[in-house]
Amino acid sequence: MPSILVLHGPNLDALGAREPDVYGRVTLAEIDRRLRELAGSLGCEVESVQSNHEGVLIDALYAARPRVDGFLINPAGLTHTSVALRDAIAAVGRPAVEVHLSNPAKREAFRHHSMVSGVAIGVVQGFGADSYCLGLRALVSYLGEPTHRVQTTS
Ligand code: DQA
Repeated sequence: MPSILVLHGPNLDALGAREPDVYGRVTLAEIDRRLRELAGSLGCEVESVQSNHEGVLIDALYAARPRVDGFLINPAGLTHTSVALRDAIAAVGRPAVEVHLSNPAKREAFRHHSMVSGVAIGVVQGFGADSYCLGLRALVSYLGEPTHRVQTTS
């Protein structure tokens, strides 16, 4: 059964209250609940980590490497700034799908560039909380292709 780590970046713990006209009113706890429910029907396992700290997210990527098949990641503001997070995703060598609630391409110019997209297998953005579920479906479908699975130790 594929195992997937969901990583939520800075300020996503404030979802529901944070700029609801941009990000909607769905809380992070509700997003994680929907992902767990969907994972059950897709036949995979998900665990979630949220942090407001770049290094914690990077440590979580490396710590999960031996046991997970892929990552679903909303790097939030780090999307546009973090060479270190990008390097960690590349170094860990597991497929990663980048997701965003909003569509950064429609927003301020500083959000138009993603450091992460170049090391992701794909990006889902602009569908609110559904971006996460669409991203999970895409990742599980990708991992279902035998040549795309890497050997985990568990
Ligand atoms: C975001 C988009 C980013 O530009 C922003 O910094 C976020 C959230 C999104 O999910 O739409 O914090 O990643």
